[in-house]
Amino acid sequence: MRYLTFALAKGRLAKQAMAILAQCGITCEEMQDPSSRRLIFVNEEKKYKFFLAKASDVPTYVEYGAADIGIVGKDTILEEGRRMYEVLDLGIGRCRMCVCGPESARGLLETGENFRVATKYPNIAKDYFYNRRHQTVEIIQLNGSVELGPIVGLADMIVDIVETGATLKENGLAVLAEIVDLSARVTVNEASMKMEHQRIEELIRSLRGITAGPRTEGRGVES
Ligand code: PRP
Repeated sequence: MRYLTFALAKGRLAKQAMAILAQCGITCEEMQDPSSRRLIFVNEEKKYKFFLAKASDVPTYVEYGAADIGIVGKDTILEEGRRMYEVLDLGIGRCRMCVCGPESARGLLETGENFRVATKYPNIAKDYFYNRRHQTVEIIQLNGSVELGPIVGLADMIVDIVETGATLKENGLAVLAEIVDLSARVTVNEASMKMEHQRIEELIRSLRGITAGPRTEGRGVES
């Protein structure tokens, strides 16, 4: 039996995902050691490998087959646009991708063009403004603390993740429009889905039983 390799977006999501996988009997003792500097963790008995990667790299590992299975947020999946199957919504890390800004920018969003939008997600922002709203806007890419954009006058509004809304509130910003609901998804390499169909199908079925998550719109295995 060959190894089934999991790539997990590192951070809180990985911890929550491992807790869900553990309920399906997919565990990795090596990962419990907080002092470990290892990059790859192995469950020799059940032939699983796990590695943690920067979220935006997880779809790359899955597309190229370096990981059979990836667990990563829908925001990253949409932004990266990689070829892979998206098979299950794990229901963790729920949040929303939104257009946000000062209330004064609401009118601009509704009627204007040529305004500036700062974001860590330029592809999602372009798709939303160009294809869904048919608005010509300037997208400015930032790499974090995107809420600063409208505050310091870099941009009129932002496209960013809203979870509790606390960051917006504390900075005098509001949700102007919702783009898409987000959560952690299970993704599968296209070739792995064929080669390891039975193991992956069993895994998805058992994960679905635990999360009671709906099928996502991605192409997946049949239940
Ligand atoms: C994310 C997001 C918002 C914030 C939203 O930032 O970009 O800034 O969380 O959460 P809230 O609605 O609960 O306040 P993150 O902490 O990932 O850091 P970043 O700003 O560097 O992207």
